[in-house]
Amino acid sequence: MSETSRIVVLAGDGIGPEIVDATRQVLDAVGEFEYTEHLIGGASIDEHGVALTDEVTEACKASDAVLLGAVGGPKWDEAVAKDPTAPRPEQGLLGIRKALGLYANLRPVKPSPALIDSSPLKKELIDGTDLLVVRELTGGIYFGDSGRRDDNGGTAYDECAYSVPEITRITVAAFEAARQRSDSPRVTSVDKANVLESSRLWRETVKQVAEGYPDVELDHMLVDNTAMQLVSRPADFDVIVTENLFGDILSDEAAMLTGSLGMLPSASIGAEGQPGLFEPVHGSAPDIAGQGVANPLATMLSAAMMLRYGLGRGEAADRIEQAVDTVLASGLRTPDLYSGAEGENKAGTAEVTAAVLAEVGQR
Ligand code: IPM
Ligand code: MG
Repeated sequence: MSETSRIVVLAGDGIGPEIVDATRQVLDAVGEFEYTEHLIGGASIDEHGVALTDEVTEACKASDAVLLGAVGGPKWDEAVAKDPTAPRPEQGLLGIRKALGLYANLRPVKPSPALIDSSPLKKELIDGTDLLVVRELTGGIYFGDSGRRDDNGGTAYDECAYSVPEITRITVAAFEAARQRSDSPRVTSVDKANVLESSRLWRETVKQVAEGYPDVELDHMLVDNTAMQLVSRPADFDVIVTENLFGDILSDEAAMLTGSLGMLPSASIGAEGQPGLFEPVHGSAPDIAGQGVANPLATMLSAAMMLRYGLGRGEAADRIEQAVDTVLASGLRTPDLYSGAEGENKAGTAEVTAAVLAEVGQR
């Protein structure tokens, strides 16, 4: 890795460019980076007719890390509604995950102390919540055979398949992450083994891998039960490992525990030595794009994950995370976080960014 990390920036659509721009300012305050900007999603469809070009894939592969904003918007949804074969922005995201082999998606959920009151849950339930969703990202129903048939008046299908090596590597990632997080690590493997064959293989394989991790406490939970437990006792979870679709759904649910989807970062990691991809969990929020009110914090926290997991700069990551906490504690809130409570001040993207910069600079 060169001393100046080479980052490919895929700002994407909607609020993507605004939040990525804000995040770059914060990155520049903690280190030296060389950025190359490329199109993805709807922006790429408009320019090239596809959501991801080979050129962009190659640029990502040659980088040290990829920072992504968000993809999608009504314009392209409408085009797909008219013509189902039209390109979809999400194909860019799925394509780059697959091309970079990013099989492990890490989504930490730890409500910032200043935001405990924004959580839809009672304070005593949410207190102490600090969990990590480890979502399998390149397999399962997202990438299985799918299509349509003419039978029964028109039929559509999506296959969900998992191989033992696919389950093994994501389980190892989850156990390793659990060990790094605490001295009494716990992993909850989530499946639907009472119904699905792929889930039964999942459970068997997780048990096998667990034999190599006697220090990690393992339990298995059905996905419907997990959805319920996440809102009734979120603080009891440590690491959750699950397949692609369950992880997609549960991570949105878990994210909302923090009070806003606008706060959650994510890291997508592949094989050792390969570039990872770092992006906020929230979407492109086309309804507020261009108004200067987007919450840039999830992207800044994703950049912190990039520094820690992708570039080996944990200290710079700490600085960003602490600055974000301090800014929230000061009461500054983008509209998605603003509740009107005493001590809160509504602010736009630029103001929040300036406050984070001032904090980062002070350390
Ligand atoms: C996510 C998103 C994506 C997914 C969409 C945009 C394809 O919801 O990153 O969770 O389903 O993986
Ligand atoms: Mg999702």
